[in-house]
Order: sequence, then C-alpha cells, then structure tokens
Amino acid sequence: MSNQDQPNRRTALRSGAAVSASLLAAAAAPRGVYAAGQSEDPNRVIRLALIGCGGRGTGAINDSLTINDNVKLVAMADVDLQKCKNTAAGMSQQHGDKVDVGEDKMHAGLEAYKKVLEDPDVDVVLIASPPGFHPLHTLEAVKAGKHVFVEKPSCVDHAGYETCLEAHDKAVENGTAIVTGTQYRRQTNYVGAIEKIREGMIGDIVSATSRYCSNGIWFKNRKEGMSDVQYQIYNWMHFTWLAGDQICEQAVHNIDVMNWVMGGAPETAYGGGGRFTRPEGSEMWDSMAIDYVYPGNRVLSFMCRQIPGTKTDNGNVIYGTKGIATIHAGSGGSTITDRDGKEIWSMKGSIAAAYKQEHKDLIDSIRSGKPIVELRETAESSLTAAMGRLAAYTGQRVTWDFVSKESNLDLFPKNLKWEGSLPEPSYAIPGKTKLT
Ligand SMILES: NC(=O)c1ccc[n+]([C@@H]2O[C@H](COP(=O)([O-])OP(=O)(O)OC[C@H]3O[C@@H](n4cnc5c(N)ncnc54)[C@H](O)[C@@H]3O)[C@@H](O)[C@H]2O)c1
Repeated sequence: MSNQDQPNRRTALRSGAAVSASLLAAAAAPRGVYAAGQSEDPNRVIRLALIGCGGRGTGAINDSLTINDNVKLVAMADVDLQKCKNTAAGMSQQHGDKVDVGEDKMHAGLEAYKKVLEDPDVDVVLIASPPGFHPLHTLEAVKAGKHVFVEKPSCVDHAGYETCLEAHDKAVENGTAIVTGTQYRRQTNYVGAIEKIREGMIGDIVSATSRYCSNGIWFKNRKEGMSDVQYQIYNWMHFTWLAGDQICEQAVHNIDVMNWVMGGAPETAYGGGGRFTRPEGSEMWDSMAIDYVYPGNRVLSFMCRQIPGTKTDNGNVIYGTKGIATIHAGSGGSTITDRDGKEIWSMKGSIAAAYKQEHKDLIDSIRSGKPIVELRETAESSLTAAMGRLAAYTGQRVTWDFVSKESNLDLFPKNLKWEGSLPEPSYAIPGKTKLT
C-alpha cells in the first residue's frame, strides 16, 4: 500500500469525522487563509507555526517540512525563548528557505501562544506543549481560525475533555482542520491489521491485552530561583495536571489503538498499581494494570510500567473466536495467526512514515477543502486513559458515564502565573484519593 492510499483507507475505517467536517465546511468562513469547502492552489505556501519547541515539537515541524511542498515555518512560541531559537536554527539548517522565522516571530512565556494565534500570517499551528495545556491551546487556536495539529494526549481530565469537544465542534463549524498526534492511526500495519479484523479474519473479538512497559523516564531537578510554576512546567512529566501520569502521557497510544479496535470507549475500568522507583517530588506512579470492559463484555487487560531494569513490552494482542492479531508498537509490524498458531497474515509498517503521514494528511485535507477534524476520538482515548488512572488512584470501579458526564475533575491550576506558587506535589493513595 502506498502512502497515497492511506488517508482514504484510514478515513473509511474511522468514525467519519472528516466526512461530516467537509459537509459542514462551507457553513462558516474561517479566518485562516485556507478556507474549507474550496480547493486551494497547491502552489500557495501554507504558513506554519509551532507552539512548544521541545523534542516532539521539533520532530513534528521537521516531519511537516519534510513531507509537504509549499509549506513554511513562520512563527514559534515556547515558555523558553532559547527553545524557539534552537529549533529555528536546526530547522533552517535542514530545510533552508522553508524556514523564515525572524526574532520578532519567536515568542516566549506563558502567554506566547497567544502571539502566534493573533498572527494573521499563520495558517496552521502545531501544538506540542505539555499535555495539560493542549485543551486550552487547541480551543484558542480554533477560535482564532487556525488549522491545528495537536500532540497526544488531548486532555488529562474531564474539564480538558469538555474543552476538546468544544474545540472539535467549533472546528467543524469553522471548516478548519484538527489532526492529532496519534500516528498509529496512520501506520500501514495498524490500518492493515484492523482492516483484517473488521473483515472477520479473527472472528468475533473476545478479549485483548495491551502493554506499554518501558524503562524509566527523565526527571529534572529544580534550578535555583524557579517559581513553583516554572519548575513544574520545566519538569512537566511528573505532575498530574501537566502530564496525567504515564497512562495518559505515553500509554495513551495503545489505549487509542484499543478504542479503535473495539469501536469506541470502554464502559468500565478497574485496576491498581503503585510507585516504587519515582524520585521524591514526582506525583507519578510507575506501574498500573487496568481491566477495561468494552461493550459486549470484551475485556482489555491493559498494563503500563516505567521501571528501569524491567522487561520492556509494548504492543497489542487481540483474541478472536477464529484467530489472534498481534500489533507490535514502533515498526514491529502486525501478524495474524489462526487458533493453532499458524500465521495467516502479516504486514510491516514504519512509525517514521506514520509520523510524516499525519502532516501530509493535514495539509492535503486543507488544500482539498475537506479539513480533517479528529479531535473527538483522540479526546475519547485520552479520557479513557484518565479513566484508568482514576480507577488505579482511587481503587474504585470507574464508568465511562462517570468520567465523560459526571466527573468534576479539573486539574489545571486557576490563575496560572509564571512567578506563581502551586500546592506541594502529592501522589495518589487508593482508598484515600477520592473519585471526583
Ligand atoms: N506522538 C508521539 O509519539 C509523541 C512522542 C513524544 C512526545 N509526544 C507529546 O508531545 C508533547 C511534548 O512532548 P516533548 O517530548 O516534546 O516534551 P519537551 O519537554 O521536549 O517539549 C515541551 C516544550 O513545550 C514547552 N512548553 C511548556 N509549557 C508551554 C506553554 N504553556 N506554552 C508553550 N510552550 C510550552 C517547553 O518549554 C518545551 O520546550 C507531549 O504532549 C508529549 O506527550 C508525542
């Protein structure tokens, strides 16, 4: 299958969000240059901006500049000006005149994202700030009439989920695109395996296992003079309001794949976990095991872990009445065996190609006047991950109805200020931590 084939096959397998977006597209004229409902001249340059110029932000802009013709990086925002400068320098070296970011187009600080969103020279924003900021940055970008690429997870709590749904609906109304950083949805061996499952190759799905078991993750010590806010944003992985713990920040990739396989979100989550190796001052647990029950009593046994020295295991196994599908993480490929273990199908795939494909799909969808809007399904997967975290943190059985409709959980600090204080970090203790 060529890369060219992928968007259509993928769209066909998905919820139809792109189709509904295109139908509604002409309704309201967006402020972005590339309006929905009309095909654009492929030779017109689409101008990109980056919010969050760290590891993935740099990777994402590199992917977009590599895979797309007639795109240009024109503005950047980060809390740290040096991050903008480093990314601009690296991208200029690699992509030459596809990068044109003057010093006046590099914005720093907590409010820097607003400068990019107010800039009439920006058509598309790529958002790769820490997860806790994604709902705010995405909704504000959509309100500003920009097309959006936003990294996963989309949200880490109920309030963020609601904001994402608002952003999704507003983008559909505007006729602007939102593509999310769930690259597996665009990876050939994932699309291929799920197509075979849909065709019935493994029979009816009975259960599944999915794991995201890796080694450790970075931790950054506080530097002298940093406020609580500066420190927590600098060391964002370790604070629940910013990252949502490993299950949201990292393992959401596999949870998203399982929601895709199962056709939507699970009904309940129950599980446990703990922390053995996290540094003092981190709010993260280092392992969780959750049973998610999907409609039809199909159980996903899910586990994630980040403990140095343990056996890594990352992938998804789906058990059916006629066979078993194994979808490996990274570029490990997919296989399907019959019930006797005989391989009956396999496909290779490249995660590097998938990372680029999401940016090709985004730009193609804008140019064709049929903007993809896929935030809702990624927000659902992100909330599914948060649902598992809540089940583990509280020791309760948590329902989808509760997390998606009744929960009041809003972790984002009120009146966030760069010099501000925050409550002392604390970690969850089942039986004491309340379900909210
Ligand atoms: N799709 C994937 O496979 C994948 C891989 C890695 C990371 N990610 C996601 O990408 C996002 C960024 O991760 P990363 O690894 O690049 O982290 P990072 O720490 O390298 O980069 C984050 C950047 O955001 C900046 N930042 C923090 N708060 C900001 C704010 N309010 N406004 C603007 N900039 C802000 C930081 O200064 C930093 O430069 C996360 O959501 C992460 O989960 C996705």
